[in-house]
Amino acid sequence: MDNRPIGFLDSGVGGLTVVRELMRQLPHEEVVYIGDSARAPYGPRPAEQIKKYTWELVNFLLTKNVKMIVFACNTATAVAWEEVKEELDIPVLGVILPGSSAAIKSTASGRIGVIGTPMTIKSNIYEKKILDLSPQMAVTSLACPNFVPIVESNEIHSSVAKKIVYENLAPLAGKIDTLVLGCTHYPLLKPIIQNVMGPGVKLIDSGAECVRDISVLLNYFEINRSRGLENQEHRFYTTASTTSFKEIADDWLPLTIEVEHVTL
Ligand code: DGL
Repeated sequence: MDNRPIGFLDSGVGGLTVVRELMRQLPHEEVVYIGDSARAPYGPRPAEQIKKYTWELVNFLLTKNVKMIVFACNTATAVAWEEVKEELDIPVLGVILPGSSAAIKSTASGRIGVIGTPMTIKSNIYEKKILDLSPQMAVTSLACPNFVPIVESNEIHSSVAKKIVYENLAPLAGKIDTLVLGCTHYPLLKPIIQNVMGPGVKLIDSGAECVRDISVLLNYFEINRSRGLENQEHRFYTTASTTSFKEIADDWLPLTIEVEHVTL
C-alpha cells in the first residue's frame, strides 16, 4: 500500500479527461495535477522546447511526493516519455501505447485513423507503435492543430467548434472504422467528433485506456492507496488562469475542485 498521490501532467486542461477516468475507475486514488495552460498548445512547438517544458512539469510533480507520474498528454509522451521514464525511479506512464493497443483490439477492417497535435502526428509514433504490434494494420494520421485552442478557451459547445471539427475530419470520412483521439484534449469534443465520423466509427480515448494500465501497475507494485474516500485531498495546479481551469474542471470532473496558480 502507498498513500501518496498520483501525479498527472498536461500542457493544459486536456489531462482532466484522464483524471475523470481515474476518478471513475480508481476512486480511492489521490491526484496531483499540473496543467501548463500558459504555454499551451505544445503541439506546434519544437521538440526540444516541449521536452524542456515537460521536465519542468515532472520536476514540479516530484516536489509533491508522487508515487507515479502519468503523462496525460500525447505530445509530451511522443517527445519526452522515453527519456523521463529512464531517469526516474518511480513508474512513469504515457498514453500512446494504451491507445495503440485499444485501437488494434477495436478495429474490424484494420483501417485505423489517428488524430493528434502537429508534433504527435509528425513524430509518427502512433503508426510506429500500432505497426510494431500488428503489421497488417493500415494507419491514416491527421494533425488537428485547431482543436486544442477550442478546448483551452472552453468553446467546445460553440458552432465554431462544430465547423472546425467537421472541416478537419472530412479527409477521414469513409476510410476507417476506428479513430484514436491521440490528444487528451479531444475527448472534450467527443460528441461532435462522433457526430461527424458517424456511428460506424469507434472512438478510442487514449487517456481512458491509460487508466487501465495505471490500475495494473498499482496492483503489480502493490502501491494502491489503502485509505477510502475520506481524507482525500486532490490538488490541481495551473500556470494560467485558475478561473478558466476551474470552469472546465467543474464541468468535466465528478467533483468541485480548488485550483492553485503556479509559476514554473
Ligand atoms: N493534451 C495534449 C496532448 O494530448 C495537447 C498538447 C498541446 O498542447 O498541443 O497532446
